[in-house]
This record gives sequence, structure tokens and C-alpha cells, in this order.
Amino acid sequence: MTAALPLTDDVRRVTAPYYERVRQVIPEIEWGVHAPYVAAINKLKKERNAVILAHNYMTPEIYHCVADIVGDSLALAREAAKTDADTIVLAGVHFMAETAKILCPEKTVLIPDLRAGCSLADSITGADIRLLREKYPGVPVVTYVNTSAEVKAESDICCTSSNAVKVVESLGVDRVIFLPDEYLGRYVASQTDVEIILWQGHCEVHERFTAQEIADFRRDHYGLVVIAHPECPPDVLAASDFVGSTAQMIGYVETKRPGRVLMVTECSMSDNVAAELPDVEFIRPCNLCPHMKRITLEKILQALETMQPQVTVDPAIAARARGAVERMLQVG
Ligand code: 13P
Ligand code: SF4
Repeated sequence: MTAALPLTDDVRRVTAPYYERVRQVIPEIEWGVHAPYVAAINKLKKERNAVILAHNYMTPEIYHCVADIVGDSLALAREAAKTDADTIVLAGVHFMAETAKILCPEKTVLIPDLRAGCSLADSITGADIRLLREKYPGVPVVTYVNTSAEVKAESDICCTSSNAVKVVESLGVDRVIFLPDEYLGRYVASQTDVEIILWQGHCEVHERFTAQEIADFRRDHYGLVVIAHPECPPDVLAASDFVGSTAQMIGYVETKRPGRVLMVTECSMSDNVAAELPDVEFIRPCNLCPHMKRITLEKILQALETMQPQVTVDPAIAARARGAVERMLQVG
């Protein structure tokens, strides 16, 4: 860890507009630590012709103050595919950075901490898919983007939580193998007539929510609107008023403006939306993703200074994985 950067008058001045964006959720004393990094990152990313793509689970000082593009997994993949920057800094987890590299093999893709993994990505390997194909010959494999490049390379098409039903139905078949998130797969099965063959991967953050917890929050907070990510267990989704990807959840709150809302997902997302919508009361059971939380301003700056760590994907694997990701992007 390097020494904290100094908070000079110049830094205060150039970062003042950024503080306005986050003052609802970041106390002034804490901002004094973030501000020098915000100033340094915003300067250096221009010099490097770099774009910072940040997932909706990043903390507010990343999401609102240094990111060029924020969004769910699908939006980040789309933006990676069309950026003309030389360097992509992926403020998110490893599979997201790998997806960016798969789509843009000629660009430098940095992830501020290579250890930012995902329990879903760790739940399945390419060899598992080859065995499933032997067991279910001819049945197409739909793979959630929360997987390694090696797994994507063995798949027919990828999906995200925002387009999973559409992707499954786009194949025009009666049955698909859906990997690796069991709960997202069960949710898709509840929305379509296509038969879904499941795998038993889970998100270590969303699997911890319970229907009892939701009932307790509803009892304690009159008029509460509950919106959930489809990685949650089925009884949690059944107890919710709306189910959608992280971007769809944000869109719901922005358009419906509920008085009180519980976002059943990683807790930084409520902070990010609360910073923009002070009239909405957010009830926050705090389940943190330990992988997402490895990404900090300090590590983003270090990545831009050193141009490390870079994400690499074997070109032969990347070429096969690209087919599955591009097929998904074509579904729209
Ligand atoms: P989204 O695609 O909805 O952003 O989800 C990604 C993720 O990792 C959720 O845990
Ligand atoms: Fe993976 Fe869950 Fe973290 Fe999303 S929240 S990156 S699915 S472990």
C-alpha cells in the first residue's frame, strides 16, 4: 500500500463537482481521502486514452467520480465492444474484464485486482460442459456471462441476467442446458416454456437472502417495495415485487420512484442510486460482494500508472468464446 495522496487546494477545487454527486452518501471527512485519487485518476485516464467501465456494484466514489460508463454486465460488454479508447480499465470482477478482452483482443484491458473473482465463475469448468454435452447430445448450452473464457468457449451462446429469457427463446428449441446459476436458470424456467437443464452454481452474495428476511422487512417498513436480482433463491424472488438485472433494478427505481425500496442485491448499488435520488428511502440489508470490493480508487490509479495487471486470454480460446458472446449481443 502506498502513502495516501495529499488533499491540496487544487485537488479540492477540481473535485468539488464530483463531491456534489456523492455528498448524500459520502461524509466530507471521508471525501478528503478519496478526492486526491479522483483527481489523479481523471487526469491520468485522459493521458492514457483509457476508458473506465464500472459495474453497478462499485462504491460511489468509483461509480460517480471516475467511471466513464456504468452499467450491468450486458451494458459493460456492449460498451467494451464499441469503445475507441486504447485501454479499458474494468472496475468490476475478472469475468467482466475477460469479456472485454474477448471482444477487444487488440486493446489493453486492465483489472485493478486480478483476485476479483466470482463464486459462479468458479462453479464450472470447460470439462464439465463437455461431459454435459455427452449426457445431452444436441442440446444447446446457454452460459451466463459470469463464467471464465474457457467455459464461454465451450458454449453456444452467452446471456446476462437482463436478457436470459430472450436468449433462451432465441434458439427456437424445446430444451437448453443453462449454466451455471441454478437460481437464474429456475427464474428463466418460470418465464418460458423451454425446458431448462440446470447446473448448481450459486452467487455467494445473493444466495444468502431469505424470504423470511423479506417478510421481516415488509413488517417493519410500511409500504416497502421489494426488488430483487434473479441470482436470489426462488422463494426470495416470489416474495419480491419486481425481478431484474442490476440495471433493470436501477431503472425501476428511477422511473417508479417508490417512497421506500429494498434492493435485494449487493449493497453498494443502493448507495449509488441513493446519491441521485434523495427522495427515495433505501432499506439496506448489507450483503457485500468480497470480489467487487477488492476494487478501490487506489488500485485503479496504480493500474493506470503501471498499466498492470493486464487481462490476457489465449487467442484460440478467445476466438471461440467471442462467438458465444457476439451471438448474445446480436440477440439485442
Ligand atoms: P448484472 O448483469 O445484473 O449486473 O449482474 C452481474 C452480477 O454479478 C450480479 O451479481
Ligand atoms: Fe459473482 Fe455474486 Fe459477486 Fe456478482 S455478486 S460478482 S455473481 S459473487
